Amino acid sequence: MSYGEGVRLEINEVKENKKQYLPLLLLADEQEDMIDRYLDRGTMYVLIEDGVKCECVVTDEGGGILEIKSLATEPAHQGKGYGKAMINYIAELYCDRYSILQVGTGDSPLTVPFYEKCGFVRSHSIKNFFMGNYDHPIFECGVQLVDMVYLQKKL
Ligand SMILES: CC(C)(COP(=O)(O)OP(=O)(O)OC[C@H]1O[C@@H](n2cnc3c(N)ncnc32)[C@H](O)[C@@H]1OP(=O)(O)O)[C@@H](O)C(=O)NCCC(=O)NCCS
Repeated sequence: MSYGEGVRLEINEVKENKKQYLPLLLLADEQEDMIDRYLDRGTMYVLIEDGVKCECVVTDEGGGILEIKSLATEPAHQGKGYGKAMINYIAELYCDRYSILQVGTGDSPLTVPFYEKCGFVRSHSIKNFFMGNYDHPIFECGVQLVDMVYLQKKL
């Protein structure tokens, strides 16, 4: 299947041993006990093109909302369209069953512009999420993450 830019790739669901992709999961969410909160109930996908390049975990949040709990592209392969291809795949796969695809992320210049490029718009935020739920301060681009910012895309 082709997902634009002539890239040929494969996206598969991971049903067993999701922790085999822990290094990628930790890239999206650096505290393992936070990953444990959604990994079992989440549905995981990996994008493969000459090896696994990107992973994604989605959960059913009720009310027609599907949430991206984790999305990460191998550092050496970021900026090549893999993250966007994964979002497009998920959106197409779930558009009949859900009305909204949402993601919660830190208010970071590394992630928010990516989701906006993929058609997400800011919806709401949870104040002090990163202060209350993580056992250490989280920094991205030298900025401490404080609030969880939600972005949504209509399916
Ligand atoms: C965020 C992340 C998943 C993006 O994946 P990626 O495979 O590098 O993204 P893509 O190459 O598909 O980028 C898609 C578009 O977003 C743009 N983009 C990506 N990151 C961007 C950034 N930080 N600022 C501005 N634009 C960005 C790309 O230029 C591209 O634009 P185009 O469609 O016009 O070419 C990846 O950088 C990553 O794994 N980061 C670490 C983990 C993380 O923070 N995950 C999110 C937690 S929920």
